[in-house]
Amino acid sequence: MKNMQIFHCRGLNGDIVIPGDKSISHRSVILGSLAIGTTKISNFLNSDDCLTTIEIFKALGVRIEQKKNQIKIYGVGLHGLKKPPKILNAKNSGTTARILMGLLASQSFSCTLTGDHTLKRRPMDRVVIPLTQMGAAFKNKENHLPITIIGNNLTGIKYRLPIASAQVKTALLIAGMYAQGETRIYEPEPSRDHSERMFQYFGIPLKSSKKMLTITKLKQNFRGKSIYVPGDFSSAAFFLVAALIVPNSHIRLKNVGINPTRIALLEVLKKMGGNINVFFHKYFLNNEPMADIEIKSSELKGLQVSNKVVPRMIDEFPILAVAATQAHGRTVIKGAQELAVKESNRLKTMFEGLKRMGAKIILKSDGWIIDGPSTLKGQKVFAYGDHRVAMSLAIAGLVASNNTIICDTQNIDTSFPNFFKILSDIQK
Ligand code: S3P
Repeated sequence: MKNMQIFHCRGLNGDIVIPGDKSISHRSVILGSLAIGTTKISNFLNSDDCLTTIEIFKALGVRIEQKKNQIKIYGVGLHGLKKPPKILNAKNSGTTARILMGLLASQSFSCTLTGDHTLKRRPMDRVVIPLTQMGAAFKNKENHLPITIIGNNLTGIKYRLPIASAQVKTALLIAGMYAQGETRIYEPEPSRDHSERMFQYFGIPLKSSKKMLTITKLKQNFRGKSIYVPGDFSSAAFFLVAALIVPNSHIRLKNVGINPTRIALLEVLKKMGGNINVFFHKYFLNNEPMADIEIKSSELKGLQVSNKVVPRMIDEFPILAVAATQAHGRTVIKGAQELAVKESNRLKTMFEGLKRMGAKIILKSDGWIIDGPSTLKGQKVFAYGDHRVAMSLAIAGLVASNNTIICDTQNIDTSFPNFFKILSDIQK
């Protein structure tokens, strides 16, 4: 177990280049592998989760070359994947596991998918149920990995997602590329749309209206493309909040992806009084918008977060909770029960960490009530192997009165390997 020590900070200053987006990096490897010809990916996120996706596609017979954050994929086409010689291990990556299940369900071979102890605890029925309706076959049709997926001929279905989920939506879109007829997916609220944008970019026909997506069995292969991965907004979020709550801070985050389905935190923090300026850059080749974001220390006020924005900031609640401890008044977060089935039960793990540090926080079954501002005190706190909890508690440690020790931080490498280096570089 890797522990980190955080010291009280007097100000953050400087420019930060945010590493590539995790969701877009995964998708670029998946679609690039299924394309015909080469796909070149620039600014790929070299984190454990994304490297796991690369390893899995190599095991499925795809040639992939890696030079730092430049990736070249020699796509094998829709029907070119090969039965892997061993069990596929998605390690800590829920995105890899769930999206892959949609793909493997439609192949001409069987294989087994597993994960690390955290991923094995996370629910898989959200993909198993709709895929079974499409005709997918599983040897041990369980809610948890390891699961053996028996490749089968699939048929399109109409499916209403019980909860908005980009992972489930993407698994079904990929299965839909192989399924007879039409696959229709309805989402209760829009979740991140990187898959839809990338499908369109690769020329994969996909009809989309506000809450419904329709895909029809692909009759021909699509061709490889060049992809630029913008900086990950979910990684930027830690520094956004850090600069707002640490007095005397002024930072600029460079090349951050600002896809509208990802940036509800930005809207919430601005409503809380955050001094944030967004300088729109450009749309990249692959239809993803990018910006530089300037942040200055601000006096925040609490607010009630609307249920509707939950899917658009699903990964940002741990760091929002930290911001709320420093905001004047009450912050109420509801409708976020999905946090209970992330890399840890984030409702509980963030509650426990912040409470230990002296925050006024009440745990609910679907969120928190947080009263602020509170003076946090450095303590020994636990990340429970959850990367976003570890990074959020590290930011809380910057405003705590003495040193904070965060235990179990090694999984920060799943999404943001140079997090602590950047954090120390910008401290005054
Ligand atoms: C992701 C979707 C989200 C998010 C995860 C990455 C993706 O999960 O929490 O970190 O890349 O599709 P859900 O789709 O389960 O909400």
